Amino acid sequence: MHNDANFLTDNPELYEQQFPDPEHLAARFVLDLLGRHGAGNKLLDVGCGSGRDAGFWSRNGYRVTGIDTSPRMIEYARAQCPDGTFLVDDMREFRLDDVFDAITCLDSAFLYCHTNSELDGFLERCRAQVRPGGLLIAEMRNGAFFLGSRELLDGVRERSVSWNGVDYRSRTRLWIDHAEQLLRRERIWDWPGCGDELTQRSAWRLLFPQELHRILRQAGFEVLAMFDHPGPRTDPAWHPGSPLNTSLTGDRLHLIARRPT
Ligand SMILES: C[S@@+](CC[C@H](N)C(=O)[O-])C[C@H]1O[C@@H](n2cnc3c(N)ncnc32)[C@H](O)[C@@H]1O
Repeated sequence: MHNDANFLTDNPELYEQQFPDPEHLAARFVLDLLGRHGAGNKLLDVGCGSGRDAGFWSRNGYRVTGIDTSPRMIEYARAQCPDGTFLVDDMREFRLDDVFDAITCLDSAFLYCHTNSELDGFLERCRAQVRPGGLLIAEMRNGAFFLGSRELLDGVRERSVSWNGVDYRSRTRLWIDHAEQLLRRERIWDWPGCGDELTQRSAWRLLFPQELHRILRQAGFEVLAMFDHPGPRTDPAWHPGSPLNTSLTGDRLHLIARRPT
């Protein structure tokens, strides 16, 4: 069975089990970057998912708004982070009655903009919704990593996760669609008694560092830093005060850009 809905984003608790972050590394990493670049405390998290990061920021004195296309994620985020504002909205065309000190876009959410015009639309919206001097912070897969590395492309990765007493198994295959410049994914889920397997497909735009520099500049941002290590999903992972490595050979890319004053 093929299903266009997303099994993980439709089940936020399962999502958090599958991708645990018990020490809130992603949220703390962002606070480190905000501290290094002196942003204010009003944040917009684009593709906020379950609100796990937003909740941490909110508990640490930040005013947080989150948008996501998944109604289930937004519902869950509202429950997890009652002081935040969460809206079902699309990053490619969102329009909010507010301006933020920083916009975050984590765990490759940026790469759901597949086409050039979707990327332009997203960055135009970010520029409009961040104050002059405000920041755009993103963490995503690094397109340059795939130049010469097949590490993530060979074979099928199997993972099991238990949730509500049920053992879910996922088998994931990644491949590159060169013409569209997309990293495509097929993930097949099964669990005891599920009947048909559930097959879900997804894709991320592959962006290269120099390409990102150019589109950010064209969108009216200046790039303050672009680095592959350390981050919340790198090995070794980020820890407070880590130096930033700019070789950009790793599988993750982190960027900090600023709307000029
Ligand atoms: C990999 S999850 C990351 C969630 C969260 N940022 C985190 O780091 O845990 C990507 C999220 O982006 C959302 N998403 C996908 N396409 C989107 C779009 N066009 N606009 C807004 N959110 C989108 C998904 O629903 C999902 O919750």
